Amino acid sequence: MQYFIENLPKAELHLHIEGTFEPELLFEIAKRNKIKLNYPTVEELRKAYSFSCLQDFLDLYYQGANVLITELDFYDLTYSYLEKCAIQNVRHTEIMFDPQTHTERGIAFETVINGISRAVEDAKVKLNVSALLIMSYLRHLSQESALLTLAQSLPFKDKIIAVGLDSTEKGNPPSKFATVFEASIKAGYIPVAHAGEEGDADYIWEAIDILKIKRIDHGNNCLQDENLIKEIIKRDIALTICPLSNVALQVVKDLKDHSLKKKIDLGLKTTINSDDPAYFGGHINQNYMDTQKALNLTKEELYQIARNSFQYSFLPAIEKEKLILELDLYYLNALI
Ligand code: ADE
Ligand code: ZN
Repeated sequence: MQYFIENLPKAELHLHIEGTFEPELLFEIAKRNKIKLNYPTVEELRKAYSFSCLQDFLDLYYQGANVLITELDFYDLTYSYLEKCAIQNVRHTEIMFDPQTHTERGIAFETVINGISRAVEDAKVKLNVSALLIMSYLRHLSQESALLTLAQSLPFKDKIIAVGLDSTEKGNPPSKFATVFEASIKAGYIPVAHAGEEGDADYIWEAIDILKIKRIDHGNNCLQDENLIKEIIKRDIALTICPLSNVALQVVKDLKDHSLKKKIDLGLKTTINSDDPAYFGGHINQNYMDTQKALNLTKEELYQIARNSFQYSFLPAIEKEKLILELDLYYLNALI
């Protein structure tokens, strides 16, 4: 099974670039930017990675991101993640980035996007990994701030495929961002949003009805509402599920209690992703492996999850077909 998962061609559809910041690289970049950290060593920082809820994690995650200053910092962070994709057989990834985490500290939007997208271009050539970028609005900030971010992004529109919504969910419903999502769609961006990670099913309703999202990030709590489940299936919207993240943030107590298998059995389209791998104890293959063990997933179910990851990506149809063919051939070979 481990061999099957490691070599399975797959896409990652839910990944925050700031959440890939391994403590070693964080310390290295802090040193070159002459920034003093609150933790004396890599080990001390790692010890702090124990969370009771989403907010607990976000507080540390934003602290970590504060050491990113130059275009090279964003390049190094992104390229380092893309190298990990290559060795895990991630053939395509859709990377979320949070511009406001950086622009609020006086870093230019241009610095962030240029560093990230230069790494994406290099990885395509050197690592044969493709990537698309999702600009995520921070929901704990105002809609005005998101609108300013949308305006800042427009000169770089060709580098960004979609807009997302992340950060503190409870108390910040999708409807708070109705105007900026409408404007983002008009500008040509595909809408996605975190919904139902900690928030209830009504947040997912708002995300699909008001924000018109094409993919639900997490969506755990859709199981609270049978009509919602039917509607998600009817509209053919996929869920980007992050099992190790859900355990680390105590959204579920134990991986054995995870609703992924139940969702598959109900006919929901699911994918497996790492969310913030540096903080949650594993990259995508670890998520596949641990979830397989905990829920007894079959090779066929894992194949279907990987197939969904290509099918529900935002790649052009021709690229999707190529990757699905590669996956189908892999699966066929594994069967014989
Ligand atoms: N930002 C980074 N990771 C996140 C998560 N799991 N939920 C909401 N916002 C996030
Ligand atoms: Zn996320």
